[in-house]
Amino acid sequence: EPERTLVLIKPDGVARQLTGEILRRIEAKGYTITALEQRTVGADLLTEHYAEHEGKPFFEPLLEFMTSGPLVAAIVEGNGVIEGFRSLAGATNPTSAAPGTIRGDLGRDWGTTVQQNLVHGSDSPESAAREIGIWFPQR
Ligand code: CMP
Repeated sequence: EPERTLVLIKPDGVARQLTGEILRRIEAKGYTITALEQRTVGADLLTEHYAEHEGKPFFEPLLEFMTSGPLVAAIVEGNGVIEGFRSLAGATNPTSAAPGTIRGDLGRDWGTTVQQNLVHGSDSPESAAREIGIWFPQR
């Protein structure tokens, strides 16, 4: 069944010039990029995006990192794309992410204060709808 997911290429991915490589993997899998924008965002938008993590020990460093430079936001469509993109991305911690995944192939070791794991993908249809509403309110 066709689905939509919200993908972020985090500031580490953009700074390391991996935007093209990450988008290439998404397209090579057969998914369609239907919205794409590079932007630098502030704490308010990210607090909304990461609402479920507010209060956790990594929340403030995560916001600091995510506001540190430009990131790329995309809507990606395809059959099973929510689970499929998370599979492409690999485990949250790049050190343990499997080779063949974005984080396993391209991610560096987990920082101690920031969460530089290159990409974000929505984890459920509910999260996807909520996150697309935050990043692309007109869509
Ligand atoms: P993301 O998929 O964007 O969603 C929440 C982010 O918080 C996650 O990727 C990581 O960057 C970060 N994160 C999740 N769990 C932890 C953790 N246990 N310690 C530090 N950072 C984390």
